[in-house]
Amino acid sequence: MNILILGGGGREHSLAWAVLQNPKCDKLIVAPGNAGIAKIAECADLDILDGVEVGGFCDANAIDFIIIGPEAPLAAGVADQLRDAGFLVFGPSKEAARLEASKAFTKEICDASGAPTAGYAHFTDAEAAKTYIRAEGAPIVVKADGLAAGKGVIVAMEEAEALTAIDDMFGGEFGEAGAEVVIEEFMEGEEASFFVLCDGTDALPIGTAQDHKRAHDGDEGPNTGGMGAYSPAPVLTETLQEQVMQQIVHPTLAEMTRRGTPYEGVLYVGLMIKDGQARLVEYNCRFGDPECQVLMLRLGAQALDLLMASAEKRLGEARVNWADDHAMTVVLAAKGYPGAYEKGTVIKGLESLAETSREVCFHAGTRRDTGRFLANGGRVLNATARGETLAEARERAYAMIDAIDWPEGFCRTDIGWRILP
Ligand code: AMP
Ligand code: GLY
Repeated sequence: MNILILGGGGREHSLAWAVLQNPKCDKLIVAPGNAGIAKIAECADLDILDGVEVGGFCDANAIDFIIIGPEAPLAAGVADQLRDAGFLVFGPSKEAARLEASKAFTKEICDASGAPTAGYAHFTDAEAAKTYIRAEGAPIVVKADGLAAGKGVIVAMEEAEALTAIDDMFGGEFGEAGAEVVIEEFMEGEEASFFVLCDGTDALPIGTAQDHKRAHDGDEGPNTGGMGAYSPAPVLTETLQEQVMQQIVHPTLAEMTRRGTPYEGVLYVGLMIKDGQARLVEYNCRFGDPECQVLMLRLGAQALDLLMASAEKRLGEARVNWADDHAMTVVLAAKGYPGAYEKGTVIKGLESLAETSREVCFHAGTRRDTGRFLANGGRVLNATARGETLAEARERAYAMIDAIDWPEGFCRTDIGWRILP
């Protein structure tokens, strides 16, 4: 089978790595890919937001299955265009991807399905939003309605911060994404992510993870796309997973189907857990990055079978073979990230890293120049390892970090702090 993966980050490198473990894959192309992905697959320079261009490429290259990694092409309707052209696609339709692309839409679905989540109000007018904030008081959470590259959420501990966020959002800081705003009750608790494959009818949980969103040790510093993750997340016990499936996932999927926009693909369920109860923080319509990296290392070759079962609407008969293992990924980022950072600095030591079924250094933002690897983004590498225990996985992941010679990079040294001494 010929497979195309859309995307070029650490998430897509891990998807490519897992797909290649499976003998069903004859040929793999990743668009646009990166220097790490180029070591294991062909990379193609495509505009992945242009479904017509991607479809033409798939015709020309006899592609049998397309896996869409990031949210932007999903929100742009690329999955719909490719399905309409007759291709087998992993990823939700544009309408179903609104579960990520519009916070107000997610809240509407929670209301209709009874899924537990934070109380909220929805505004299209700054003065009304401010009046609401003054009445509710802080802490309070202000969210730009649309996609804002992870930057559209302000958890305001002070009322003034929330009011400023309203001015920024309606002032155009997030463009169209901020033209509407959702204001939410602040939820306390421990966050965890739950990943469920869906095919419009059935739903199959494929793993749990915990991310580390703040840039620096001790959960200090600005919010990022994620600085490290591990799987499984012990806080999401089997009982709690069952509760989340019954109270949140199944009701959401039923409501999406009732509206004529069934959800297919992976549903990333972001949860807040307190006193043994889980409430929904957000949905994403794709795998998390870097959560995908730990899930793929744990799932290995079966990941392709599972993604295909989702795309072919066969999840009812699909099963996950769980290993009793743990995985951790540590993100190496360019100094300055998530603010301004330098590109083009030289990374050494990558050739010396072992690549086995229990340790892989996935590339998130690299390019190659006359044989050298250069940093080409904010998050650059993901040292990812598996072990019988999380402590073992951590040891292997940080050993990879130690072997990489990149003075312009940094990482958190405390990934896993919640559960490891
Ligand atoms: P989101 O993009 O909706 O996931 O929000 C980004 C981050 O903001 C989440 O991962 C949480 O850490 C935090 N957050 C979002 N909504 C809330 C809430 N209602 N209460 C507390 N924290 C929240
Ligand atoms: N790591 C968080 C996300 O992918 O949204």
